[in-house]
Amino acid sequence: MVQTLNAHGLLNATDSATSSSLVGSSPGETGAGGLRGSESYEHRTTELGTRRDRVRGISVTTPTLLANRCNELLTQGFQFFVVASQPNLDRFDLRPFGMPVTPLPFLAPDRHSWSTDVFLRLFNSMNAQAFGPRGLELPNWVLVDNVLLSSGLFIAACDPQRLDMIAEALPLTPEERGVLARLVGEASATGYAGPIPVAAYCAAPTADRDRWVGWSLTSVVPRSGLAFVTKGLALRTYGAATLVGVTQYDNLALRIHTKFGPARIEAARVGLHTAPNTLVYATDVCRWLDGRADRGPGATPTWLVSAADAERHAEMQQMLDARTHTLMILPPGIIIQDDECVVPVLVTDYADPKIHP
Ligand SMILES: CC(C)(COP(=O)(O)OP(=O)(O)OC[C@H]1O[C@@H](n2cnc3c(N)ncnc32)[C@H](O)[C@@H]1OP(=O)(O)O)[C@@H](O)C(=O)NCCC(=O)NCCS
Repeated sequence: MVQTLNAHGLLNATDSATSSSLVGSSPGETGAGGLRGSESYEHRTTELGTRRDRVRGISVTTPTLLANRCNELLTQGFQFFVVASQPNLDRFDLRPFGMPVTPLPFLAPDRHSWSTDVFLRLFNSMNAQAFGPRGLELPNWVLVDNVLLSSGLFIAACDPQRLDMIAEALPLTPEERGVLARLVGEASATGYAGPIPVAAYCAAPTADRDRWVGWSLTSVVPRSGLAFVTKGLALRTYGAATLVGVTQYDNLALRIHTKFGPARIEAARVGLHTAPNTLVYATDVCRWLDGRADRGPGATPTWLVSAADAERHAEMQQMLDARTHTLMILPPGIIIQDDECVVPVLVTDYADPKIHP
């Protein structure tokens, strides 16, 4: 008996004969590369079988699931904002999936009893706490020039009193509670009594207006679904058809990214990036919106790729450069075993994304 992942990334128990046929489609059989025996999927999933309860399977979600989760978060007291220059706000859908999103026009006089500037500074403190360990803080000039004026920043926030109650009720670690306490402390030190940013996301359009590039997915109320909902609402607000994102092979955010469907790898390594083990992926948002992503490519991963496996990353990059194969990260995006994160990747014959979106 071995464990395999089904199309939704959930662990299945199958007999080894069936499993072999499911996992045997190595790139070698389709024209290039080949599985390295000791790292074959079957081998790794047998290991995973002993740790089944530690592996969280996450299926591709639907807009309805997202709206339901969003309603729960609204009931708990979270609110969603988009901060941008007015011309950008004019082009955004401020009722994504029918959910309320409050526009905050950057550079306009404050519309609330609290300051938008302080709200943004608190966002950046939160962002620095989340991204600091990877060296990815956001300088304020980048926030102004490349976020607020170029696109719009999506923020989930919560009133301080409510946040205290929520933090009390959630199973957070002392470190996670400390992050929230520091944000509330920073707000009160400036006399600010408005909502405290606790999650955020931003994407900006490219030369192709349907194709957006996203970054800075953050949440400091972990495991609450806030990051997933914030990203989903933002994509709808922008009207993005394709989302290009940058992440790392060991970033838990892959759990969220693949909730919107398999992530097609566009670059398997990005040496120039500040963070090591970086990759570029693309999500077909339209497919997710109309329910086609839920079917995904319907396959078991060919490889479980480790963040440390530079050799595999280089091999994948060669396959992309040669256009011989398409590489898809399947849900749940990341599987954690012991201290190692592995990414389930499906390798298929090359398909032009423009012809086969
Ligand atoms: C990555 C990050 C945004 C996730 O935030 P989050 O609030 O936990 O996200 P969500 O609540 O939407 O959770 C998404 C999924 O990941 C799972 N998850 C989150 N943390 C986990 C952990 N430590 N172990 C296992 N699963 C975890 C959640 O359970 C959830 O799965 P589920 O919906 O099936 O239960 C957050 O950890 C973060 O801000 N990290 C630092 C900044 C960063 O690197 N961002 C990514 C840039 S690409």
